[in-house]
Order: sequence, then C-alpha cells, then structure tokens
Amino acid sequence: MKTSAKTLAPLLILMFTPAFAQDVPQKIDNTSCKIAFSCETSVYDDSSGPFVDSILKKMTLDEKIGQLNQMHWEDGTLLEENARKGLVGSVMSITNPKDFNKIQSIAVEESRLGIPLINARDVIHGFKTIFPIPLGQACSFDPDLIEEAARISAIEASAAGIRWTFSPMVDISQDPRWGRIAEGFGEDPYLASTLGAAMVKGYQGKSLSDPTSIAACAKHFAGYGASESGKDYNSTFISPNRLRNLYLRPFHACVDNEVATIMTSFNDNDGIPSTGNEWLVKEVLRDEWGYNGVVVTDWNAINEMVNHGYCEDARSATLKAVNASVDIDMMSRAYMANIKHLIADGLINESQIDNAVKRILRLKYSLGLFKSPYCDETLPSTAFYAPSHIQKAQELAEESIVLLKNDFHTLPLGPEVKKILVTGPLADAPYEQLGTWIFDGDAQHSITPLAALRDEFGVENIIYEPCLEYSRDTKLEGLNRVKEKSSDADVILAFVGEESILSGEAHSLASLFLQGAQSQLIKELSQLGKPVITVVIAGRPLTIANEIAQSSAVLYSFAPGTMGGPAIVNTIVGRNNPSGKLPVTFPMTVGQIPMYYNHNNTGRPSDGTELRIDDISVGTPQTSLGNKSYYLDYQKCLYPFGFGMSYSDFKYSDLCLDKNEYQVNDSIILTFNLENTSDVPGIEVAQVYIRDIHAGLTRPVKELIHFERIALEANDKKRVSFSIPVDKLGYWLGNKYIVEPGKFDIFVGGNSDDCIKNSFNVLY
Ligand code: NOJ
Repeated sequence: MKTSAKTLAPLLILMFTPAFAQDVPQKIDNTSCKIAFSCETSVYDDSSGPFVDSILKKMTLDEKIGQLNQMHWEDGTLLEENARKGLVGSVMSITNPKDFNKIQSIAVEESRLGIPLINARDVIHGFKTIFPIPLGQACSFDPDLIEEAARISAIEASAAGIRWTFSPMVDISQDPRWGRIAEGFGEDPYLASTLGAAMVKGYQGKSLSDPTSIAACAKHFAGYGASESGKDYNSTFISPNRLRNLYLRPFHACVDNEVATIMTSFNDNDGIPSTGNEWLVKEVLRDEWGYNGVVVTDWNAINEMVNHGYCEDARSATLKAVNASVDIDMMSRAYMANIKHLIADGLINESQIDNAVKRILRLKYSLGLFKSPYCDETLPSTAFYAPSHIQKAQELAEESIVLLKNDFHTLPLGPEVKKILVTGPLADAPYEQLGTWIFDGDAQHSITPLAALRDEFGVENIIYEPCLEYSRDTKLEGLNRVKEKSSDADVILAFVGEESILSGEAHSLASLFLQGAQSQLIKELSQLGKPVITVVIAGRPLTIANEIAQSSAVLYSFAPGTMGGPAIVNTIVGRNNPSGKLPVTFPMTVGQIPMYYNHNNTGRPSDGTELRIDDISVGTPQTSLGNKSYYLDYQKCLYPFGFGMSYSDFKYSDLCLDKNEYQVNDSIILTFNLENTSDVPGIEVAQVYIRDIHAGLTRPVKELIHFERIALEANDKKRVSFSIPVDKLGYWLGNKYIVEPGKFDIFVGGNSDDCIKNSFNVLY
C-alpha cells in the first residue's frame, strides 16, 4: 500500500549548478573608462565576477538600463545613436557580418564604456543549411544528430556575426491546430527534454567563448504550447502541478544543461502573463532551479501585458517584469521609458537592475565579446552550405521521415519500377520544403523531390504533372493530363501537404484536412489502377485518414529542409530504411484534440468494447449504467505517439527485469529480445514507458522514460539491455520531486500503443 501524498517525504529533489558560478579576479584597466579583457571563460567555468563588478561600478543608470534594451537592425539610425550612447545592450537580426561589425564598432569604439553588443537571431532549424523543422527532427529520436545539426547552425550563424539564437523552442504541444507545433519536439516531456538539451549543447558547444558557439535560448517560458483551442497567443489554464510535470520539464532540462538564456512566453497562464509572473520566473526558475542566466522577453511582451488587461500601462508592466526578474526587454522600449522613474519613485530598487545588468555582462563575457567583439568577415564563404553541413542535413532529413503505411511492400521501389508519374504541389517546391522560420535559408539551395527523382531515375523516366500549383490551389487543372499519362507509369508519387506559411507563429488552423483540392487529387489518383505512394510534407500532423486509405504507401516528412528531396528519394528507393517515429499523436479528426498518449486515466476508462454511434437504435432510452469515457463516433487516434514503420519487421519479446523490487537509488536493468524478422537491415527506436499505478497525483497511463536507436542486421536478434535509474520515475507535487513507492508497470515497444509489459515495486 502506498502512503498518501500528504505524508510522503520528498525522496528526490533536483539540485542545480548555477551557470555562472566562479569568480576569479580579472585584470581591469582602471586608467580609462574602456574595459580591458584578460581571460577566457565559458558557461561551465565562469570567472567574470570581479570583471563584471568593475564595469558595473563605472556605469551610469542610463547605461545600465541600456544594457536591458534590445533593439532591431531595422531600427537604423536610432540603433546607431543608442549604441554610441551606450543605451542598447543587444540587437536582433543583423545577418551581414559587415553590418554587424559596423554597429559593433560604434558600441565598442564610440561609446563611453565600449561595452560590446550581442547580435541575436531566430536560427531555429538551421541558418543557411536548413535542417528539418524541429518537429521533424524529433522524429529521429536521435539527440546526437540533433546536437550536431545545432552545432552546424551555430557555425554558420556565428560566421555572420550572430552569437545568440532564440532556440530551442521546448514548448510541449498536444494541439496540431497550433501552427507553432512545427517549432517544438512534440507532446512528450522526456523527448522534448532530451532533444532540447541536445540542441543547447550543439549551439553552445564546449565553451561559449569559442567564436563558433552561440548562446541558446529555451523558449517560451512557460506553457505557451497549451494555448487554448490551438490559436496562437491564446490564454492557457495550466495548473501548477501540470505545469511542473509537463510543460516545465524541458526547461528544467535546458537549465541543467546550462542554457545561457530563457525567453518568457506571450501567454497568460491562469490569468498571469509570463513576463510579469514573479512566481514563475523569480521563484521557480531562479530561486528553486538556481538559474542565473539571462531572461529575455518575447517581442514587445512587456507592453502586451496592457493588452492582456494585466497592467494599466507600460509603466506598471515594467514594474511587473522587473519584479519577475526579467532582464532584457525585447523591442517594447518599456524599460527605457520607465525604469528610471520607477527607481526615482522608490518602486524599483537599483540593485534589481544591477543584477540584471550583471547577468547580461556575464553572458557577453562568456561569449568572449569583450575580447573579440568583431566577427571575421571572410568566414561565410567557407561556412555557409559547407558540403559536410549539407550531408548532415540529408542525414537528419532521412532519419526524420516516418513511414506510416506500406501495403504489399510497395516501398522501397524495386528495379521493376521504370517509369514514375510525379504529381502534387510539394514535388517541386524548393521554398515550401524548408518549413517555417527560415529567414536566412535560400530556396535555391533546396533539392526538391522532383530534382532528386530525375537524378535517380533519369529525366526521361519521370512524368511530371503537378496538377496543383500550391497546397491551397483548388483548380485541379492538370488532372486529365495525369490520367492520360498514368498509363505509362509503373507507380504514382503524390507530394501533398502544406506550404511553409501555413504553420509557424500566428499560423494556426481550425481544420486539419489537406488544403485546396489535394484530397480530391489523391482520390482521383487512387482510381487509376496504379500504386499510389503519398508523401506528405507539412508543418503539423494533418487529419489524412482518407488519403491514407486511398494510398498504397505513405511517408510523412515534416518540412525536411534543404536536402528534403534526396532524403525522400533515398527512402523511396530503399537506400534509407525509414526509422522515424512520430513525436505527436495523429488524431483522426480535429474534434479529438487535445489527444495525447500520456493522458491520465479516468475513473471510467474505455475498454474499447462500448457501443458506437451506429450500434445505438433510434429511441434508445438513456441509462446511467456502464457509462465510459469515450466518443461515440471516433475512438482511436490515426497514429499513436512513437509510431513509425520500417522496411524491416521488428519483434519484441521476453521483457525481464533484474529484480521485482527496487530502492530509489537503484537502477532497473531491463532486458528484452529485439528481433529483425525481415531480410532488410534496419534501425528500430526502442521505447520504454512506465506507469505509476497509483500515486499522490493521478499519473499518466504511460510515460516515456527511455529510448534508444538500435541497429539490427537482416534476420538478426539481440538481447537488449537498458539501465533506468529509479529516481527518473518521479513526479512533481508542488515544488517537491517525488519518487513514490509502490507498483509500476513498465512497457517496451516500437510505439506507445503496441508494447510488451512487466511490473515492479519501488520500496522506501
Ligand atoms: C516572437 C516569437 O514568439 C519568438 O519565438 C521569437 O524568438 C521572437 N518573436 C523574435 O523574433
């Protein structure tokens, strides 16, 4: 029997190392106002304390407030004037190294103290070389490769003078209507934590002072992905326990991995906008987690607290944000206009501003900007689109592709396939395959599926008739030509999905059907008597049950980036055996949303045997007996979290544990057989889930706790062994992380639905 939650002792409370911990004396040039720099540092070994203190002592209040002010490259003359006066600390979106060096020289050479600027940019899934959108990257379940991709993004971005990216976005989302689901790692907190931390490591490198390292920014803190009805910027209503157990976990993981900065989110949670949420930012992030890095607002978020109806004016919004310990005001100018007056009126203590300035100067110091403020203008020529970067982009795109259906082994195409009819608006859409947030990626570097198919099969063997010019196109103009030409083709490849602009920020949708006449196109194709292979290129899960039924095989490729074409073609011909798994549940219909695998059990869970809408006779009287939690019309999802097929067939069996009972400081050694029963070598993402059967808070019916990519030769069998620390099995109850004793189920499988199971007990 478990004890009640109230009587539980916290068995494990996570501890944190402050990012900027070490204070080692620095050489300060006291003879002038300019600052001399003397020593290397990193987020891991910060020695900036005395150096930063010495600058702070020299700063006027205006200069201090200036460090909190973030401006945009497009601010032009005002930016230059402020840089000269020391009234700006960071700048957004300078992408030409010459431009950056010019404004940096104003800050460093012409301002009184010569404090360098940091240049920040939204480098979300690549700077020039574009990797799959983060939701696509998540399908790889491959943190090492994601870290490498982020490293490449940092190398390319830093070559342009960018030393700070507003990434990773680690917002959990269970709602594909929300356009920004594209930017995150899906619905699972463990997956998002693992992949978010990998991105942080990739961006920041071994040391921030490496000139190719860029500061990461975990965003949007917090709960933004739960925006009501999937409409961007909407309110959220997340309870404190749910916040900690779901939405905060990836942020916590980023803090553990010394993320240099964190961005507050736009949403108001339970009535309090994040940028003014003292509990969230000051108490939880800083005091509880020990985070001592920079907190930046989202764009104009201080002023927007007035729109929310949380603050009367920009002055009171400034007070809220400062009291929440938000350091940098992105673009609202509210700090510039109000902090000085609030200090004069005794409402803000200057030490609050000093603390914020110190955090910002520490970051600049860690990045080595005092020592090397300028960027090398020659780097872009070698860094951008370097062959090794392009190769990695293809690797990650290949790992991101998910095989959803493959009847009669339609894929991979065999040598008997000579002629292919290629159709659909996404077959040759170099810009659209890049996805959302690609300010700097050039579409002319994209290799489209059509180009890659022509390369693979010869131009003469590819019959191309797009039928629809773009995804929303309703005029099925080339359909007759498709019908005519289909008789020459062995298979039909249909590339459908979404243009980039249909997902991402402020691009939410209430309907998740294929846009325009794409569904009609697939339906028509399915009647031509040829195998139809549908490839979906999109920014979110779409409700495509019909199109799946009408296709022989389906590949899903969340916007795959620069090398999407070759990655898809390698998959179609079998050089890449798909290993991608879905990081989000695919609903059958929008009405099921939010639909996610890690939901709690109800008191009346469905067992799948309940009456369906068509089983109910007209006039059936109401009964209160045997009622269960289910929809009369749609019960199941289209695909569960973790789902993804392969050209290989994998079989799981014989899940064993080394013990039946564990102490909290033990590790569970679980072993199982994984067999490739096919003639094709492949990689399987083996997933481990647990269920805490009963606890002080109701816990999800399954929670991902571990995963690994396992390679198996044809007809190969492995006894796989994983070690899972028992202290990972806990949950947050208030501000305590608890591993509760009692019974747990443990599951292993190739997706969240289809698993083998065992059980164990955790003892005190
Ligand atoms: C608003 C977005 O919410 C955020 O993600 C982005 O980093 C900033 N704008 C800056 O562009």
